[in-house]
Amino acid sequence: MKPFATIDRGETHSVKYEAREKLFGSKDVIPLWVADMDIASPFEIQQAIAKRASHPIYGYTTYPLEFFNAISYWTRRRYNWEIEERWIVPSCGVVPSINFAIEAYTKIGEGVIVQPPIYPPFFTSIKAHGRKLLENKLIYKDGKYSIDFEDFEAKAKVAKLFLLASPHNPTTKAWSKDELSKMVEICQKYGIVIVSDEIHADIIYKGKFISIGSFGYEKTLVLNAPSKTFNIAGLKTSYAIIKDRQLRIDFQRVQKNAGVESGNPFGIEALIVAYTKCEPWLEELKAHLFSNITTISNALTHTPISPVATEATFLMWLDCHHLFDTHEEVLEFFYKKAKLGLSDGASFGIDGERFMRLNVAISQERVGVLLERLKIAFGDYQR
Ligand SMILES: Cc1ncc(COP(=O)(O)O)c(C=O)c1O
Repeated sequence: MKPFATIDRGETHSVKYEAREKLFGSKDVIPLWVADMDIASPFEIQQAIAKRASHPIYGYTTYPLEFFNAISYWTRRRYNWEIEERWIVPSCGVVPSINFAIEAYTKIGEGVIVQPPIYPPFFTSIKAHGRKLLENKLIYKDGKYSIDFEDFEAKAKVAKLFLLASPHNPTTKAWSKDELSKMVEICQKYGIVIVSDEIHADIIYKGKFISIGSFGYEKTLVLNAPSKTFNIAGLKTSYAIIKDRQLRIDFQRVQKNAGVESGNPFGIEALIVAYTKCEPWLEELKAHLFSNITTISNALTHTPISPVATEATFLMWLDCHHLFDTHEEVLEFFYKKAKLGLSDGASFGIDGERFMRLNVAISQERVGVLLERLKIAFGDYQR
């Protein structure tokens, strides 16, 4: 099979496909929402999983030394950050880890800063734990996003924790060294814990990714996983990098209470192979994604949809303010007219209204179908 060809995901119980009728009202909709890829995982990972599956016992599994070695190797190689292996705490997903961190480092009623529009579990996890949501809304001007640092500092004065998405989902913003260092400076000044979700760090289109953990502020947790990068999110294998011993102990205590200490046998093998053997595949993937982004951006040039420049991730954030006056009309256009199941921008918070998030981790052929459907919908729209 050609790499990055269209893959039939029928019979795999894929969330993205199975929920189409419920979400969009029809199975004819092309699902372009959940952030996993319609692209095969690297062959080396498929082989490693098949090899592990050939042993017929799938019992409780511990994390071997190779797991920690692979993570520190990847962190050094891809992010220029030297970490010690004892800082690594294996976990069962980034969203669960966000919840563990909130529970470990804050009390009911205490404030947590987020930067909307933002990946929905950021605000749902804060609310579910009865913590106070402090929204440092991103500034959107001339098609670009930036941080309102004055507001950030005002919120930092009363916050206990800052939940950062780096790169940012859904805006795809890859934070610069200056922006990150300013965030660190303010958090350090008020002694608040930084929890940085870096799950999209590997797919960045210009330069090298900078982890906020590399700035050396002790109260920083970095959450990462190979799950987005290598399309293995279903294996539920992630890790936290926690330099500070006490923060590490507190995080592990919450994990232990939740009963999630042992690992996924397939996830462990997949992570080791991903980080030690699949870098060339990742470079090819990035070229493929960037080509999709360019094709789609070019096709949208003469339409009322303006994509925000994609800096990272396999997602595009589409500004639809010139398409319709209301968010409901935007949804109707994509779901009913074009039959394209993008993520609803409003699910990322109020500032996401009249935006849509498009998952471009699809084959070239499917990009063609997507553009054809848009063209037909625009035809109807102009009549
Ligand atoms: C920013 C961000 N964090 C976390 C996740 C999910 O992480 P996990 O599946 O490891 O819980 C996603 C998935 O879309 C994401 O975009």
